Amino acid sequence: MTYVVTENCILCKYTDCVDVCPVEAFHEGPNFLVINPDECIDCDVCVPECPVEAIFSDVDLPPEQEKFIEINAEMAKQCPVITEKKAPLPDADEWSEVKEKLRYLERCG
Ligand code: SF4
Ligand code: F3S
Repeated sequence: MTYVVTENCILCKYTDCVDVCPVEAFHEGPNFLVINPDECIDCDVCVPECPVEAIFSDVDLPPEQEKFIEINAEMAKQCPVITEKKAPLPDADEWSEVKEKLRYLERCG
């Protein structure tokens, strides 16, 4: 089991989730955060912190978001750890209303 960041985070990156994580499970891509499945201890505290409800347990993942299990695992290997909250992306509030943002996902490296 692990927790997974999904599509709603793309181009928002509010980072409230990072502040509450008791381990260093979050990694930061250019316009998206992911959770390292090898670090996440399934504590659930990050879920209510996300203003756009982007975080799910992998067992509760909506079917159309299942591809994000692999995306989180892959990007956690490529992107640096983030441990402190920072400002969201400049147009986060506009992008928070948009669905189907996967095409805008930027990888690390
Ligand atoms: Fe961190 Fe807990 Fe969220 Fe996993 S479920 S990413 S350990 S806050
Ligand atoms: Fe992304 Fe939500 Fe965290 S938008 S950065 S998962 S608080």
